Amino acid sequence: MIEIKGVCKSFNNLEVLKGISLTINDGEIYGIIGQSGAGKSTLLRCINGLEDYQDGEILIDNVLVSNKDSKVLRNLQKQMGMIFQDFNLLTRLNVYENVELPMKFWGINTKSEEAKKKINELISLVGLDDKKNARPSELSGGQQQRVAIARALVLDPKILLCDEATSALDPSITKEILTLLQEINKKLGITIVVVTHQMEVVKQICQRVSFLKDGQVLAEGKPEDLFVHPIKEVKTFLQDESTLLPEAGINIQLFFTDKTSEPVLTKMARELNVDFSIVWAKLEDFRSNIYGSLVINFEAKNKEDVIKYLEKENVLWEEL
Ligand SMILES: Nc1ncnc2c1ncn2[C@@H]1O[C@H](COP(=O)(O)OP(=O)(O)O)[C@@H](O)[C@H]1O
Ligand SMILES: [Mg+2]
Repeated sequence: MIEIKGVCKSFNNLEVLKGISLTINDGEIYGIIGQSGAGKSTLLRCINGLEDYQDGEILIDNVLVSNKDSKVLRNLQKQMGMIFQDFNLLTRLNVYENVELPMKFWGINTKSEEAKKKINELISLVGLDDKKNARPSELSGGQQQRVAIARALVLDPKILLCDEATSALDPSITKEILTLLQEINKKLGITIVVVTHQMEVVKQICQRVSFLKDGQVLAEGKPEDLFVHPIKEVKTFLQDESTLLPEAGINIQLFFTDKTSEPVLTKMARELNVDFSIVWAKLEDFRSNIYGSLVINFEAKNKEDVIKYLEKENVLWEEL
């Protein structure tokens, strides 16, 4: 378990983390989302002890992350693998040697059968069996990130920290890498912390997410909760498209969760004898649960009936 309690961090006079508190459970895929400059990378670097912090506590399984005791810190760091946006592979080494590198760094005998087996298994796991001897320059971005993932797992970490790991990849490759991370989470039971500015990433794999702005956690919850009832700042971040609305009549946004669906609308039109126009509609996919959101416009005289009906049908709604 990762416990972050009131963590504050400044660079000279610049306060970058302003009392961050959150808890990440074992085996969870946890997202930290926010705009560039929000403090996401700094927080991740504090978690793995690459940065020191001035106030608060970060505990990994009840052990304090602190540079006061370098032996304790090194042991903690061994339990955390990390991957980055730009892969950070060594260009003069091939795939096998890149994955082997952390073992060498830790003085582990990489010629042993056990070590060789581990390296080969990980290369298999990330789907690069036929690329063992390739150099990074001979690989696509997605393949390079696969190497980085194998390398991050070679010391059997409990936690995998991902800093914008898919931000340099196109959408279809992003999906493949996220699917791989999910597999790793399931197969190896590793806790994964995903730092990203991409809502799509959080929606696809995170069980819970924190929204970070100006060094503070402004919202926390399941991705679908953040999305269905976003606070103002999250709305702005998502650049909600509900800008162009008809001026006449009433505009109501409906959220369809997996328990509700569009037939509610046609039924409502029939039962209340009310005409709606659909202003815009969008479907969102959260870890295979479909959530829809829809804005309808209708005459003001029907407002009371419509709201009553929506309440009765347990449809989430918001007047715009
Ligand atoms: N080593 C550093 N020295 C000074 N300022 C830094 C340093 N690293 C990050 N910052 C500043 O801290 C703030 C948060 O940065 P960062 O954690 O990288 O945000 P994010 O990852 O959310 O984009 C930014 O204003 C950035 O300029
Ligand atoms: Mg960053």
